[in-house]
Amino acid sequence: SFLSKTLICASLALLGSQAAMADTLKIGTEGGYPPWSMVDAAGKVTGFDADVGAALCKELNSDCKFIVQAFDSLIPSLDAKRFDLIISGMSYTPERAKRVNFSIPYAVEDAIFVLPKNSELVGADNEQTIFDGLAGKTIGVQGGTTHGAFLTKKAPKTTIKNYETLDQMQIDLDAGRLNGTFADLTSQSKFLHKVGEDNFALSKLVIKGSSDPETLGYGIAVGIHKDNAELKAKVDAALCKLIDDGTVKTASEKWFDI
Ligand code: ARG
Repeated sequence: SFLSKTLICASLALLGSQAAMADTLKIGTEGGYPPWSMVDAAGKVTGFDADVGAALCKELNSDCKFIVQAFDSLIPSLDAKRFDLIISGMSYTPERAKRVNFSIPYAVEDAIFVLPKNSELVGADNEQTIFDGLAGKTIGVQGGTTHGAFLTKKAPKTTIKNYETLDQMQIDLDAGRLNGTFADLTSQSKFLHKVGEDNFALSKLVIKGSSDPETLGYGIAVGIHKDNAELKAKVDAALCKLIDDGTVKTASEKWFDI
């Protein structure tokens, strides 16, 4: 498999070698999604996606400029060519792929519920028990995410409340205005770490990122404008190399404490 991967990278590199690159690659990201993308006190975008983006720009001999905006608005802005790429923990889904080209995946992500600690659903060990138990309850998700799409499909009797940011969603949960939240494992763990485990718990049940491709997609990928097939080829070739040479793994170990 080392051989085949190297061959794939080599052929991608060939495809990507045509056409000059723009001097600056503009990258849209949310910036409120730790540890994927955050904005530090100095206004700099940091996190796993920032590191992947910076490595990608370097590989493509371009400067990087991050543009921060709401997750839900990233695809419309890519459409409008406000930036060249989306790097925002975004999953490659069939629905989004109608509007956006996606690179090869650079990460995978599982999802999990945060629930009141005393909820009987905390210990549930199969999906159906949780989905049945959530009937009539209100669960928070980030608007426009795969998490909302998944829950809408799997738990049709649950009220799903969309939030622009995870911060707003977590404030509402903390204030008792939600019966739980559903988001990716990393941000949910970070939330629990922050508020402590007196009142809330992670569900025992982890929803694997690969468990429902229709809604949860096929891994986390870079979004590229449909018109720009050349840029997609370049991004794929560069990502392939960065995955192969360990750059992506090093960045993920730095931000996800694995
Ligand atoms: N992977 C999920 C999705 O694609 C969640 C991504 C949320 N990303 C963010 N920057 N807030 O829908």
